[in-house]
Amino acid sequence: MNQLTEATMVEQVVTNETGSQSIEVENLVIDFALDNALFNRQYMRALNGVSFSIKAGEAMALVGESGSGKSTCARTLCRLYKPTDGVLKLNGRDINASASKITQTELAKQIQMIFQDPFGSLNPVHTIRHQMYRPIRIHMPELKGDAIEDYMLGILERVGLSPAKQTAAKFPHELSGGQRQRVAIARALATGAKFILADEPISMLDVSIRLGILNLMADMKEEGIGFLYITHDIATARYFAERTGVMYVGHMVEWGNSDSVTQNPQHPYTQLLISAVPEVGRQRGSATVDGKKSRIPLWKPDSKGCPFAARCPKVTDQCHTEMPSVTQVAEDHFVRCFAL
Ligand SMILES: Nc1ncnc2c1ncn2[C@@H]1O[C@H](COP(=O)(O)OP(=O)(O)OP(=O)(O)O)[C@@H](O)[C@H]1O
Ligand SMILES: [Mg+2]
Repeated sequence: MNQLTEATMVEQVVTNETGSQSIEVENLVIDFALDNALFNRQYMRALNGVSFSIKAGEAMALVGESGSGKSTCARTLCRLYKPTDGVLKLNGRDINASASKITQTELAKQIQMIFQDPFGSLNPVHTIRHQMYRPIRIHMPELKGDAIEDYMLGILERVGLSPAKQTAAKFPHELSGGQRQRVAIARALATGAKFILADEPISMLDVSIRLGILNLMADMKEEGIGFLYITHDIATARYFAERTGVMYVGHMVEWGNSDSVTQNPQHPYTQLLISAVPEVGRQRGSATVDGKKSRIPLWKPDSKGCPFAARCPKVTDQCHTEMPSVTQVAEDHFVRCFAL
């Protein structure tokens, strides 16, 4: 086993160069205000030093209980939140630096989000055609007239919504949940996006159609699209994503090759999560340690130690005062824990 310093850890996590298309998240910190006080405002730390990368044609899964910061990672990548600290790079360019001059439209052309509830993300009063045209007009200004229609129908076919012409004329309520999620994916694809942030994209779908959506996303991966795949379901993380990061209270406690992390979990929290599959910790504080329910702590900017210390079966005094360093346990498998 190999103990890593913080600097080499970020390097190991982030520098996985295979091509120029990549998203890199380095030491991301996000604080949210807990009140509106003018003085002595209290903050909670939703993300504390999170690092990962997504390469073209690969998926990075984020798993963890409710409130662990998975969606915050995705929203920050879309610039919905400004990082308190850390760097986000798209193809090597800092997304947030004013010098990078990446406009919101440029960012949306490269990075698109798909949400849990496909009905909520579609406008019920417009046809699918209308909803597809908007991103195409914004992001594909070179397409005019019939070329827009042809492009749109081609994308609907590509996501399995054939016959595309009939689908395009329908309203969202005339489609099934799985078909609506395919429309959401089609809209993301229509921009020409190279990265898709999929925030629990199958959790609201019937179990029987989940695999169809996952396989569609797997095909898109083969065509070079990179995914951030957020899920409560470790089995699908292993099935779909090359790499998996396990989040707990805003910290990535274990990460690396999905097979290694899910088949040979080393962090006590990951072991607990995996023992509770398939749909772990959907309720905040619902997972149990030694048969007892325990609450997930609120992390503050001045909190110390390991975030899991209060619930950990292997806790020692050191865990309450010091953040564990990172240990490399396999070629692409890293764990932040003293008890290794
Ligand atoms: N805009 C916000 N303002 C204040 N706090 C927020 C905001 N967004 C998220 N949080 C807090 O940040 C923490 C992480 O939330 P996040 O939504 O990222 O969790 P999650 O892992 O996606 O959970 P879930 O699995 O339930 O979707 C939570 O404690 C949440 O209450
Ligand atoms: Mg979420």
